[in-house]
Amino acid sequence: MRFRRMTAVVAGMSGLALGIVAEGVTATPDAARQQQLLHLLKQDCGSCHGMTLKGGLGPDLLASRLAALPREFLVATIAKGRPGTPMPPWETLLSADDIGWLVDELQRGVE
Ligand code: HEC
Repeated sequence: MRFRRMTAVVAGMSGLALGIVAEGVTATPDAARQQQLLHLLKQDCGSCHGMTLKGGLGPDLLASRLAALPREFLVATIAKGRPGTPMPPWETLLSADDIGWLVDELQRGVE
């Protein structure tokens, strides 16, 4: 499952570089989507950042650290990835609303 998603990410990278997340104003995803996003956070993000987000290949994603970082910086990291590092771009799979909500959750603290 994860590898199929990663393939989609790689395929998408060649095509679009939409500035979908630059605006900053985002709507809240509905409850079902929120559950999907929390699942993704644990399963997919967790494969590098740790199931409990305490770090692994990638740094920890704990509110104690992320709350101090600029929201737009974190949004851009998730949307575009970090070229030259294993952090992949997610903007072909996640909407601006999804990413904005995830960042809010991470900065508030996900259990
Ligand atoms: C294939 C491994 C991998 C996956 C999957 C992954 N990341 Fe990352 N992520 C990284 C690495 C490595 C870094 C550190 C990049 C660097 O050196 O700057 C990072 C950095 C980050 C940062 C910046 C943290 C900081 O302190 O600046 C955030 C936020 C982040 N990832 C969120 C996510 C989210 C949310 C997901 C899932 C949608 C995700 N990552 C999936 C590897 C991954």
